[in-house]
Formats: sequence, structure tokens, C-alpha cells
Amino acid sequence: MLNYNILFKITGSIAVYKSAIIISKLVQAGCKVKVVATESALKFAGNATFEGLTGNKVLTDSFAEGEMMSHINLVKWADLVIVAPATANTINKLASGAGDSLLTSLFLAHDWTKPYLIAPAMNTNMFKHPATQEAMNKLASWGATILPTDIGYLACGDVGEGKLLDTDLIYEKIISSITSISKSGKNVLITYGGTSESLDGVRTITNISTGKTGAAIAEQLAACGHKVSVLRSKSSLVSKLKNDEVTYGTFDEYKKEIFKLLSEQDFDAVIHLAALSDYTPTKLEYDDQVSRLPLKSKLNSEIDTIKVVLKKNPKIISQLKSVSKNKEIKVIGFKLTNNRNEPENLKAVNKLFSEADCVYVVHNDLVSRTTTNEQTYFTVYDKLMNRKECTTVVELAKEMEIILENNL
Ligand SMILES: Cc1cc2nc3c(=O)[nH]c(=O)nc-3n(C[C@H](O)[C@H](O)[C@H](O)COP(=O)(O)O)c2cc1C
Repeated sequence: MLNYNILFKITGSIAVYKSAIIISKLVQAGCKVKVVATESALKFAGNATFEGLTGNKVLTDSFAEGEMMSHINLVKWADLVIVAPATANTINKLASGAGDSLLTSLFLAHDWTKPYLIAPAMNTNMFKHPATQEAMNKLASWGATILPTDIGYLACGDVGEGKLLDTDLIYEKIISSITSISKSGKNVLITYGGTSESLDGVRTITNISTGKTGAAIAEQLAACGHKVSVLRSKSSLVSKLKNDEVTYGTFDEYKKEIFKLLSEQDFDAVIHLAALSDYTPTKLEYDDQVSRLPLKSKLNSEIDTIKVVLKKNPKIISQLKSVSKNKEIKVIGFKLTNNRNEPENLKAVNKLFSEADCVYVVHNDLVSRTTTNEQTYFTVYDKLMNRKECTTVVELAKEMEIILENNL
């Protein structure tokens, strides 16, 4: 979980409703958020929205009873400050050094060891106005980060610069700004997605892996300040955060890439979710002919019977420690079973522990895959076979983070 204090400043733009989306994401990720709004901002959305989302009273007035020292206390409390949306008026006031409201006084008292982000939102002419441009340059020279604006349809009907940056991108920027000041990050490699083996120019043998679980874990760990590298299949889900990313198609490509990554980089842990084919097709036999695979062209679809010869692949997970640059690397393995009974599941988990020298093994079963191909119900085992149940992918991602923070 992210455990950061975010001071979220909101000013009077038509884009105020979008700040609620960002705040909701931050709260869901574990951040504590306090909102300071201008009077104009509260004409666009009410206290109820922001107090409801954050659980904290919205602050506007420097002289509110019981809040008289907020302009100093909030600066100390915050790990990061963001103004989103930031109006032309507020941007110009901040750059002039005015302290005529709680929001502006807080800026004058800002501790510049902490990030201060400004996400402008305004009509194109207001944005291009020399006063606004000069103010943004001045604020940047003092250490504030001015986020870019989008070009697009504006509430006034114009199309141009000045539109508030996409809320997902603002969220990412907040996360990357705070996590870059976090010191305890681990260097982790996450592999996910299914292999795909070509038969001919158009046909492949693959599996049902989507990459959703791996992408969720990658996002959670990156959001918590860990350095995450991803090795994922070309067809799998891309994680939303910008990670170092390498892709693979076939089993052989996967093997080459993971060995390269592990032998060149100093990873603390590898989370091995990749759904690797146990077999690689090597030959096709039909009409007394034998063809080596993969074929470049498309196989004739008139042939009645085709035999595919599959060769067993070696177990990659059991070779990870020996090929790694860091011989102390911690391996977290995943074991998917197929509706087995409890003793058989435990046997399969134990086998993976001993074959791959894992520190943790996550077990799941095909029976708990939903009709929309979502995996649910994961059991995380440690070496002593202590277990932790996770119902959803999100719970599992948070458990992986706890393991990385506390137990590795
Ligand atoms: C409907 C409406 C939408 C507005 N949208 C914006 C906007 O997107 N950006 C902006 O800079 N000003 C906008 N304004 C003007 C500001 O609300 C106005 O300059 C106000 O004084 C800003 O106060 P504040 O910076 O203290 O919040 C808008 C005004 C109205 C009435």
C-alpha cells in the first residue's frame, strides 16, 4: 500500500470534477489526502464530494476556527503537494508571491525538499497569455513541476492547448514523484503472459493467460517505489505504469530474454508468472510427409489429418538462481493446478518449492477462473507452508508488496 500524505489543492476551473477521479485513485492506493480548495473551486464541486472521498474536512479559509496554523502544519504533514486543476488566476498569484488565501499562503510556506506539482487547466488564450507563460516559467525556476496540458476540446468550445492533462497521467506523475524520494525500493523482475508457438504462417499454439495478474502486480510494486522490470508476452496486457519492458513470443525467446536479464542485472527478486508452454511443436506429419516447424507459409486447409509432434520443454524456473548475477535472488513461483484435491495441491506446491528454491509459491486453480477469464482465489505459501488467502488479483498484488517490503 502507498502510505503517503498528499496535499491536494483545487482551484476554480471547469475541470474540477476530474480532481475527484485522481483523489479517489490515490485514496484507493492507500494515500492520505487532504484537500485545500479556493472559494471558486467549490462553486464547481462541493465539500461533500471531497470530504466524502478523503474522509477529511475540505479547507479553504486561513482563519477557520481551530485551523489557524494550517498554512504551516499542512506543509509539514504533506509528502507532496499538487494543484489540479490550476487556474490562470492561481498560477499568476503563486508566481507573484501573494498570500491572500490558505492555498497561496501554503505555497509561500512550502518546503522545497518536497515535490510541488502544478497541472494547469484553462482556455487556450489564458494559457498562452504572456503573464501565464511567465508565471509558469518562474514557478518552474523555483522548483515546481509544471505538468504539460493536453490539446483538445475545451469547455468554451475551442480546440487547443490548456486542457487538463489526462487524469491517469496526473496520477502516474504524482506516484512517480513521491516514489522517487522513497529509499527502500527493491529491484524486481516480473514475468507474465503466455508463450505462443508457431505451427505455420498463421497458426499458433498458445494458452489462456491474459497477463492481468502480472500487470496488476507490476503496477502495485512500481507504485510503491520498487524498481520494476517486466518481461511479458507480446499479446499480454501492458501495465499502466512505465516500466522497463521486454517482450517475448515463443518459449525459446522467453528463455533467452530471462537469462539475459537475470545474468546482466542485479535483481533482488523475480516473480515468475509467465505461462510457459510445457511443449514446443517440432514436426508436422500428414500425407506421408514430415515438415519441420515452424512453417513459413500457411498450411493447406484441405488436409484431412495432421499430426503435430511436441517436444517437452525444460523447467526454466528451476534454472533462475543459477543463471542470475545475484546468487541471493529471491524466486517467487506460481503453480496453477486443475481442480485437484487439497493433498495434491500441496504436493504440487511443495514440488515447486524444492525444484526452484522458491521463497514463496502462489497457488491457484483453473476452477477459480471466471467465465471472463479472470483468475480469482490465490493462496500464497511460504516455505513453512504458512498460507495467506487472496480473493482477488488486487489483494494478491498488495500481498506481493507486503512480502517485498517486509520479508525479502
Ligand atoms: C464556468 C467557468 C469555468 C471556468 N473555467 C476556468 C478554467 O478552466 N481555467 C481558468 O483558469 N479559469 C476558469 N474560470 C475562471 C476562474 O474561475 C476565475 O478566474 C476565478 O477567479 C479563479 O479563482 P481561483 O484561482 O482562486 O480558483 C472559469 C470560470 C467559470 C465561470
